[in-house]
Amino acid sequence: MKNIYGALCCGLALLAFGCATAPESEAPAPAEAPETPEVQEVQEVQAAPNSKASVTTKFFAKNKLGQTVMQYTLKGAGGVVMDVINYGGKVVRLYLPDKNGESKDCTLGFNDVAGYETVDPYFGSIIGRYGNRIANGLFVIDGVTYRLPTNNEPGGIPCCLHGGAAGWDTKIWDAVPFQNGDTVGVVFTTTSPDGDQGFPGKVEAKVTYTLTPENVWRIEYEAVPDKKTPINLTQHVYFNFNGEAEGTILDHELTLCADKMTPVDAGLIPTGEITPVAGTPFDFTTPHKIGERVDTKGDKQLEYGNGYDHNFVLTNPSQNGELAQAAALYDAKSGRYMEVWTTEPGIQFYCGNFLTDKMVGKQGKPYQFRGGLALETQHYPDSPNQPNFPTTIVQPGQVYKTTTEYRFGTK
Ligand code: BGC
Repeated sequence: MKNIYGALCCGLALLAFGCATAPESEAPAPAEAPETPEVQEVQEVQAAPNSKASVTTKFFAKNKLGQTVMQYTLKGAGGVVMDVINYGGKVVRLYLPDKNGESKDCTLGFNDVAGYETVDPYFGSIIGRYGNRIANGLFVIDGVTYRLPTNNEPGGIPCCLHGGAAGWDTKIWDAVPFQNGDTVGVVFTTTSPDGDQGFPGKVEAKVTYTLTPENVWRIEYEAVPDKKTPINLTQHVYFNFNGEAEGTILDHELTLCADKMTPVDAGLIPTGEITPVAGTPFDFTTPHKIGERVDTKGDKQLEYGNGYDHNFVLTNPSQNGELAQAAALYDAKSGRYMEVWTTEPGIQFYCGNFLTDKMVGKQGKPYQFRGGLALETQHYPDSPNQPNFPTTIVQPGQVYKTTTEYRFGTK
């Protein structure tokens, strides 16, 4: 069964992505940042002669503390264009060509920092120090109990979500854009002080976004703590291949290279079990439309999540630092297609069950329930409290290092 499934996933990769060629299209110019009295000059960075790729830097906005947030536009030689900001390393806009070569912004986000500072469900953000939930905000290392302030309570049960109320998604990171020929990117760095959001140890972190001419967005995470501490970094970009604020993602076809998942309780905390997906609405080992089974009556797991909001355990996870395929996503209407490859052992599939029309997107249109989905590569939620999950504890001086790629194309 394992082998057949492995072959299926691989087959899909070769058939679907291998055949997808990046259309030769010009992506539309990203929307202008709102007018501010402090308009900064647009800077083209290290433009490479004869390259279609470029990186430009400009003022994005001020945050509520009056700090300046900068935007970096990564224009890929293959047609993908992304606007990212140094506030939380957020991907504000992501232009993906469709099967006819027409580009559309396919990620959820806001045009200003105020949106991110108020109702933001982590749109496009780097997540740290700990992706997903830690039960009750508590864990013990070497007999010492650490108490993290809780910032989330599904089912009325408090927990620490995504590194706490002032997690790494709210930090202004140092950012250095770069261009090497047709490859462009930004290196984000920050220092998280000892005790940040209740976590032990100072952590030096570096997250590198690279956009390749093959339309691959590579994310490399590095972090070095000076005390024993849990680290679990991810990216919370939301996709909608119909375009942002253009309906739901229920007709997207998803494949997850995962034959098991970690069931949760009413607080969306893993119970500690690792159960097979076969015969359940969680079986995405072959492609299924997300809407097909999301509202299956009587499924306790779907009831707890109000839909999919679960960690899936990869069947053939990365070995020796090689990337392994975790997922594929396809929208037949636009032809947009994506694969997710990672060194992580798990992936959180969240189908936007907490999105509401109170969140107004970049086109001024409200977002819908299930108007976007996230595929967050990660270690499993609540690992510091789950002895049978792969550990997320990093030793002092040890280099935490993971890589994830979102590979975009069409078919
Ligand atoms: C979690 C959801 C949460 C969302 C935040 C996801 O990673 O699994 O439960 O609501 O992030 O918007």
